[in-house]
Amino acid sequence: MTIYNFSQLILNWYHKHGRKNLPWQKDKTLYKVWISEIMLQQTTVKTVIPYFQKFILHFPNIQALNNAQLDDILYLWSGLGYYKRAENIYKTAKIIKEKYKEKFPTEFVKVLQLPGIGKSTAGAILSLSMNYFFPILEGNVKRILMRYYGIIGFIKEKKTEKKLWKLIESITPMNNTGNFNQGIMDIGALICTVKKPKCNICPLKKKCIAYSEKNWIQYPLKKNKKIKLEKKSWFIIIKHKNTFWMEKINEKKIWNNLFCFPRFNTEICAAKWLKEKKIDIYQKNNIIQDFKHHFSHFVLHIVPILIQLPFYKNFKNTKKIGIWYNIKKNNHMGLPQPVLKILNKFR
Ligand code: ADE
Ligand code: SF4
Repeated sequence: MTIYNFSQLILNWYHKHGRKNLPWQKDKTLYKVWISEIMLQQTTVKTVIPYFQKFILHFPNIQALNNAQLDDILYLWSGLGYYKRAENIYKTAKIIKEKYKEKFPTEFVKVLQLPGIGKSTAGAILSLSMNYFFPILEGNVKRILMRYYGIIGFIKEKKTEKKLWKLIESITPMNNTGNFNQGIMDIGALICTVKKPKCNICPLKKKCIAYSEKNWIQYPLKKNKKIKLEKKSWFIIIKHKNTFWMEKINEKKIWNNLFCFPRFNTEICAAKWLKEKKIDIYQKNNIIQDFKHHFSHFVLHIVPILIQLPFYKNFKNTKKIGIWYNIKKNNHMGLPQPVLKILNKFR
């Protein structure tokens, strides 16, 4: 009987069952793999696919990115979240133009220096596109290693991370690195899932410690679930015909550079703004109910206040860029998910 080691088990499984037809795997280029790996940071394959397809259609190469504005990129990123990634793609395109003649670099240290690209993403880009020998260590890989080898610890701890890097560096095969890396991520996403892993169909079960202990739930250890902090925000939705008043967000937070309705942390501030703008038709509406938007670290409770104006009014001020956004037109600008949700009620 042949005894297969960890990497052979992964490669055999990948050969038979792994994903080989994802949109960034067809007519594979370094450019496509780069964009897909940035999109796949903190985001699942299923969510990424339609965004990736739209993105590649509009920006087929680095030249196209360099001819675009940041707003054009944020427009296609709207709803995908972690918008800093779109800004980093924009910055990276500029760097690649200046330093590398608009060709994505193939040297690890050069890739690692690009904004928003860490050791694992750099390794993923070069191994998946060029089959270079670089190990990766993202969430799926970490979870599998901790379960298979029975490593006790918290996933985000420095100590655990160091241990896992050493381990993955020692087991990643020199040949077929790309298939191995894709295979282990696929097993993490499809079989060794966060909840209820499908151990019965897992190629690793023979020597998996978590499986032998029937105790996958303690790998990795989980911090006591903190109750997410809830923040409240009042959105003043000023509507005239098909247009809505929107302002560009300028703060070093999650929605920087995106457009949103005027928003306030307290009802008093919202009322004050309306008063300043001489809008006295402040009434609660039934068209859009309050709703909650979940971020990884907090919940945003949104209270929409709808104002239907019978005329245009200029709300411009010197501090903020503002526009009348027409929902019937293709305005190229980034919009946060809750704003898209509200606008969809009027489409
Ligand atoms: N997560 C990060 N990169 C991935 C990839 N290439 N395939 C599946 N999941 C991933
Ligand atoms: Fe994960 Fe179960 Fe496979 Fe172990 S046997 S690696 S716990 S799916």
